[in-house]
Amino acid sequence: MSTSRISLTRYLIEQERIHGTLPPQLRLLLEVVARSCKSISLSVTKGALGDILGATKTENIQGEVQKKLDIIANEVLIEANEWGGHLAAMASEEMDSIHVIPNRYPQGEYLLLFDPLDGSSNIDVNVSIGTIFSVLKKPENTPAVGEADFLQPGSKQVAAGYCVYGPQTTLVLTVGNGVAMFTLDREQGSFVLTQENIQVPEDTQEFAINMSNMRHWAAPVKRYVDECLAGEEGVREKNFNMRWIASMVADVHRILTRGGVFMYPWDKREPNKPGKLRLMYEANPMSWLIEQAGGAATNGQQRILDLQPAGLHERVSVILGSKNEVARVTRYHAEAVK
Ligand code: AHG
Ligand code: MN
Ligand code: MN
Repeated sequence: MSTSRISLTRYLIEQERIHGTLPPQLRLLLEVVARSCKSISLSVTKGALGDILGATKTENIQGEVQKKLDIIANEVLIEANEWGGHLAAMASEEMDSIHVIPNRYPQGEYLLLFDPLDGSSNIDVNVSIGTIFSVLKKPENTPAVGEADFLQPGSKQVAAGYCVYGPQTTLVLTVGNGVAMFTLDREQGSFVLTQENIQVPEDTQEFAINMSNMRHWAAPVKRYVDECLAGEEGVREKNFNMRWIASMVADVHRILTRGGVFMYPWDKREPNKPGKLRLMYEANPMSWLIEQAGGAATNGQQRILDLQPAGLHERVSVILGSKNEVARVTRYHAEAVK
């Protein structure tokens, strides 16, 4: 085995040396998140043998039935991140309100948000799933940390990433200096840098959307997809391919790897909800990764990272990926309101 392999630890230390953007507390935080992902990956791999498949009897705040693995992954992340002194509080898709670091441990200056298990409907069918995380800094001079401290736009993130549990377990990370990928070496038990400076191609011939919702879409989204489907004979004059994994992590991973556009837009099923995906622990971290890789992310009207969240579990319409395609969908939205 080559000795020149770069571990996550070494990458993080070198980031601090080169860019001066990774204080020790943040490095510890990212290492602990990575360790949690390793542990979740082990559970995922065991499947039925680890009694991790199936649902529980509980629902989360969004009214979704929690899968066993949703709960397990949430607990792994909470337990691993509680005692290190790097966090003030955590927030998760699976917890109604924030989890403040208990008094018996020192409090740090960071806030961690996560979707412990993304793509829950894929757990039992052995298809790729993941963990998404976002890190914010606790605003200064706040006496006791509260939910309001979390309500910062995505542009304020200091780190973001995801781990995809697929044929390989891959951790993808940004601390604001581009996007890096690390593959889990199971024998060594460590994440090894396998790609740096990831770039999303500006153009693509691949889109990702749940087509079964077509009849509920708004006109600009319908126009965009109709034009893709028209292929060479249509206005786009090229054929498009389609993929939908139903795990945002896996869809975004494909887009970071070979380009594409991912959409989970507002639709008429629940007109009062802006979308299905959650702003703070799904859309924000993914949007920052995509932007750091040269792509774009919007809700159709505004850059996702500029949105001011009003609540921890706020939802948002999401269109992200290859820059020129996202620009086109944005233009279709603007033209529709004229
Ligand atoms: P989660 O499992 O964390 O609730 O997220 C699932 C999300 C997202 O990952 C995926 O893109 C989307 O839901 C799939 O939704 P549909 O089943 O409606 O296609
Ligand atoms: Mn999710
Ligand atoms: Mn989830």
